[in-house]
Amino acid sequence: MSSSKRPSRDPEAGASEYIIDAEGVVVRFGEKTAVDGVDVKVLPGEIYGLLGPNGAGKTTTIRVLTTLQTPTAGRISVGGLPMPSENKGIREKIGIVQQMISLDKDISVRENIICHGYFQKVPKADIMRRMDSISSAMGLTPFLDSTVVRLSGGWQRKTSIACALMHDPEILFLDEPTAGLDTQSRHMLWDMIRQLNKAGTTIFLTTHYIEEAESLCNRVAILNGGRMAALGSPRELCDGIGRFAVEHNNEDHTRSYRYFSDWDGAKAFAAGFGDDESVVLRKTSLEDVFLELTGRKVTADFVKVVRI
Ligand SMILES: Nc1ncnc2c1ncn2[C@@H]1O[C@H](COP(=O)(O)OP(=O)(O)O)[C@@H](O)[C@H]1O
Ligand SMILES: [Mg+2]
Repeated sequence: MSSSKRPSRDPEAGASEYIIDAEGVVVRFGEKTAVDGVDVKVLPGEIYGLLGPNGAGKTTTIRVLTTLQTPTAGRISVGGLPMPSENKGIREKIGIVQQMISLDKDISVRENIICHGYFQKVPKADIMRRMDSISSAMGLTPFLDSTVVRLSGGWQRKTSIACALMHDPEILFLDEPTAGLDTQSRHMLWDMIRQLNKAGTTIFLTTHYIEEAESLCNRVAILNGGRMAALGSPRELCDGIGRFAVEHNNEDHTRSYRYFSDWDGAKAFAAGFGDDESVVLRKTSLEDVFLELTGRKVTADFVKVVRI
């Protein structure tokens, strides 16, 4: 599906080890600050996820990193090339799959992919060969002659990804790749993203699905209100608030959560509730981290969270 050309670096561009290296990104729309001083540092070969609730600034961030949105402030390089002077070169190194499907729904999958190949200036002689190999690797071959409108959401999304891969990008940007899809399609796309990554493509994705970030990403950045709230592997983030969770009902029917770094401490705390059947002792999940950082009431133990 992918060549072995990556990662290629421009030695002139400096010594950054990051394939995406952005510092202090700010985006303002009039009075509204959508992105408020965000750093993004992605290593070659990673699957890096930007996780955040609706309105957190994920799409705006991905639009900046893909040259589609000019930031109000920030120093950014992608694929070793600085923005904005090398935007054209950056676009050649990246594939973009936007949240809103940007296919022509009235023509076939084949025609969409070919058009995209021309659009990306893939040499004419290579277009059919690339289309065949990408379609075959993605299981799209049986659908090539279907009009897009007849495909399910999952296969439409796969078609968008096939289009974005026609020029063999080093980095693939996916904005909410599985939003609105059923569970089966979601898992199909996750497998495909993993395969692409194994073949050498760096993946930057945004999602508001915690499970997606937990299952796919080597590192997850949690974005909230335009700011980075935390960064780490799913495991590191869970360890940051405490590896073990105790939850229990309160008298007013709300639920409380406490996190502990050691099992004995969690067990002792849970034991303090006697035979209260609402008490659950379990491992901390990324969902706990996400909710602690983006909404759920902060507890005393919260200060242990890895903050950046
Ligand atoms: N073009 C725009 N003009 C004004 N406000 C915008 C524009 N684009 C996004 N916003 C606002 O910026 C915030 C972040 O939006 P967005 O990046 O789309 O968030 P997300 O993708 O995390 O849901 C939201 O409050 C949104 O309404
Ligand atoms: Mg969005």
